[in-house]
Amino acid sequence: TNKITIAIDGFSSTGKSTIAKLLAKKYNYVYVDTGAMYRAVSLYAKVNKFVGNDFLNKEELVNSLRNVSIKFKFNEVLGFAEVYLNNENVEKEIRTLEVSQLVSKVAAISEVRKKLVAEQQQMGKNGGVVMDGRDIGTVVFPDAELKLFMTASADKRATRRYKELIDRGDKVNYKDILFNVQERDRIDSTREDSPLLKADDAIEFDNSDMGINEQFERICSLVDKKL
Ligand code: C5P
Repeated sequence: TNKITIAIDGFSSTGKSTIAKLLAKKYNYVYVDTGAMYRAVSLYAKVNKFVGNDFLNKEELVNSLRNVSIKFKFNEVLGFAEVYLNNENVEKEIRTLEVSQLVSKVAAISEVRKKLVAEQQQMGKNGGVVMDGRDIGTVVFPDAELKLFMTASADKRATRRYKELIDRGDKVNYKDILFNVQERDRIDSTREDSPLLKADDAIEFDNSDMGINEQFERICSLVDKKL
């Protein structure tokens, strides 16, 4: 059968990865979480002190990029792929609020984007892939057969992210999460290189008040029409 490319873009914490994982499972597609790749580079930059709350040493980071290897390895128990930075599983470290506070600065660097976009295009070159991020339908796979653009109110998104972090045992407060979600959206939408934009041919989903099941069913019928 025909294996298509599904591009999912949208603001932070709009449930993109939840939908993407469900689609990958149902259609037996590969799921690529591109945000995890930007997060892994940010973790690398943080550990090597190229970036912090009040500084960014862009030149040193760019010069070190060739030492950064990012791989996904499928975890059979979890049912999804985990991220490895230079062969070390960093799935947990990349999801902290600290990394969330640095990632949009790192993701605005063109050289970082160039490297990761090339890797993403390579991973998806044979189709049968569902990829989520900010520039998938606009830059990575402008010819994707199906493009979705997810939105939700800032409060709904922050509440979702807050619960995720609390459930993991992180000590965070709601106000910081809300601020981070809005700040990332602002930086991601206003950067010069590949800003977060809805592609003209993307279908928009606002899931502020829509349950995941209803949304998933509607998206599956869109996929089925393309197969
Ligand atoms: O998807 P997630 O929220 O994990 O993404 C983290 C950050 O990575 C985003 O806020 C954005 O700055 C960056 N990103 C990006 N392009 C992508 C995916 C993520 O710039 N395709």
